[in-house]
Amino acid sequence: MTMTSSDSVYTMGYEEFVLFQERLTQSPSAMFFIPQLKPGQHLLDVGCGTGFLSLRLAEAVTPGGLHGVDIEPSQVDLARALAADRGCSNAAFQVADALDLPFADGSFDVVHMGGLLLHISDTVQALAEAKRVLKPGGTVMCRDLLVDSSFAYPELGVMRRSWEVFADLIAADGGRPLIAQEMKGHLQQAGFADIRVSFGMETYQTPEEVEFFYLMTKKWFLDSGPANAAMEYGALSQGLKSKIERDLEAWRQEPTAVAGVAFGHAVGS
Ligand SMILES: C[S@@+](CC[C@H](N)C(=O)[O-])C[C@H]1O[C@@H](n2cnc3c(N)ncnc32)[C@H](O)[C@@H]1O
Repeated sequence: MTMTSSDSVYTMGYEEFVLFQERLTQSPSAMFFIPQLKPGQHLLDVGCGTGFLSLRLAEAVTPGGLHGVDIEPSQVDLARALAADRGCSNAAFQVADALDLPFADGSFDVVHMGGLLLHISDTVQALAEAKRVLKPGGTVMCRDLLVDSSFAYPELGVMRRSWEVFADLIAADGGRPLIAQEMKGHLQQAGFADIRVSFGMETYQTPEEVEFFYLMTKKWFLDSGPANAAMEYGALSQGLKSKIERDLEAWRQEPTAVAGVAFGHAVGS
């Protein structure tokens, strides 16, 4: 686990992250804000991670530009390398904390926070920082997992428990498992007006999608950092982990297998 800002830990870890990130950042949820961006805008992407999505955002604002920041240096290195590899000349990346952004007031037209607020304790402070660095009338765009509306079906055995363990772990790490539901209120508290929230679901149904969902749950959650951390916190036992693995394996073999991953999106200005 890697520390983030003063009182939260980044639950997902970074080991397996890059494996899934490219695919996840092509999803309709990740792309949600692209049609709302305009050429020429200056965009700050807070919690940019590996940079796959940042480059799509940068493309959408060309001839404007994107600054990507992340608290984890390894992610900033990956994002810089990706930008160089893809010949992207309007995106720059640096290490920074969402709670203390190294930019002057009124620097950006748009601040994007994708998959970030879930992992932050003081989300209102992070949003207030976004407000500070936005130009007057600028827009914040936030997207996060709606953990307790996500599911896999058929719900074999104890599979459902993996979502509950995940939510417990997010909270134990100082994050906010209900952030998608809380976004409207937190944006209000941070001083945003004209707020619009929407909720949506991504579907996993083809054999390839079912396999991707299986691999993501197994490798990213059960086989790596999050499951170990959940065991340390007492949110997961070895017995429960084995049962979830068994049921996930059975789900993967089911011809009827489907999964829905829910997201909340919010914009404010
Ligand atoms: C799920 S990834 C999001 C990647 C990408 N933005 C997306 O939408 O897919 C969350 C990222 O937020 C970063 N992060 C967590 N806490 C942070 C903080 N306080 N300041 C900046 N970045 C942070 C993590 O290091 C991680 O790379």
